[in-house]
Amino acid sequence: MDASTKPTAHAHGTSGTSEVPIQVGILTCSDRGAAGERADVSGPTLHNLVIDRLGGIVRQYRVVPDERGPIEEALREWADEQRLDLILTTGGTGLSARDVTPDATRAACDREVPAIGQAMVLASLAVTPYAMLTRATAGIRKRTLVVNLPGNPKALTENFDAIAEVLPHAIDIIRGVDTHANRGHAHAHARGGSGAAPTASSTTRMHSHTHASASTTPADVGARTVTAPARLARDVGGPPC
Ligand code: MTE
Repeated sequence: MDASTKPTAHAHGTSGTSEVPIQVGILTCSDRGAAGERADVSGPTLHNLVIDRLGGIVRQYRVVPDERGPIEEALREWADEQRLDLILTTGGTGLSARDVTPDATRAACDREVPAIGQAMVLASLAVTPYAMLTRATAGIRKRTLVVNLPGNPKALTENFDAIAEVLPHAIDIIRGVDTHANRGHAHAHARGGSGAAPTASSTTRMHSHTHASASTTPADVGARTVTAPARLARDVGGPPC
C-alpha cells in the first residue's frame, strides 16, 4: 500500500457537511521497520482501522526511521502537496532517546491539539498504567490533522478507539465545513433509520450509529461497511461545536 494515487478531491466546503471520505496517510516510525529488519504490523493494523472505523481512504503509506528529518519531511509533503485530511503516525512516542515522533510532529505543525493525546492517555490508563509513558500529541498543519499513536498494534488500536468517534468532526472543522449548517436535517435523516454515507460528517455519522445501528453491529452504508467502535453507541447528543 505504498504511495499510490493522489487524492482526487480535497474538501474545502463551507456549509453543511463534507461529502468526501477522509483522506489518510499512515506513517510508521520504526528504526527496525525502516531497515527491513522487522515487518511493519502497526501500519496495516492502522490501515484496517481507518477503513473499518472511519470509512476513510488510505492515500499514503511510508515506513521511516526514528529520526526527525524523515518524519517531518513526510508530514510536510503529505500536508502541503498531498493535502491529506489526516496523518496517523505509529511508533516513536515513548521515552527513549530515539523516540522523536512527537517532537517532529510539533515542529511540522502550525498548531498543537494536545487534548487528543490527553484523551488517548485518559482512556488508556484504564487498560494499563504504562500508558503514562507516552509523549504522543496531535497537531494541525494547514488543513491536515496529525495524530501520534503508539507502535504496538494492541496499544495503537486502544488509542485509536479512544478518539475515533470525534475524528470526523475534527476533520470537518479543519476542512472549513460549517458544522452547524444542516444539523437539524442530518439529525432527522439519521433518526429516520437510513445509514450514513462514509463521509467525514461526524454529525450524520454519530446519529446514524446512535439511532440506526445497535452497539457494534456493522452499519451497512452501501459500498462499504463501517464498523462502529462500542463507544460510538453512546448517545452523546452530537457535537456541540
Ligand atoms: N496505550 C495503551 N492503550 N496500551 C498500551 O499498552 N503502552 C504504553 C503507551 N501507551 C500502551 C499505551 C507504552 S508501554 C509506551 S512505551 C508508549 O505507549 C509509547 O509507545 P511507542 O514508543 O510504541 O510509541
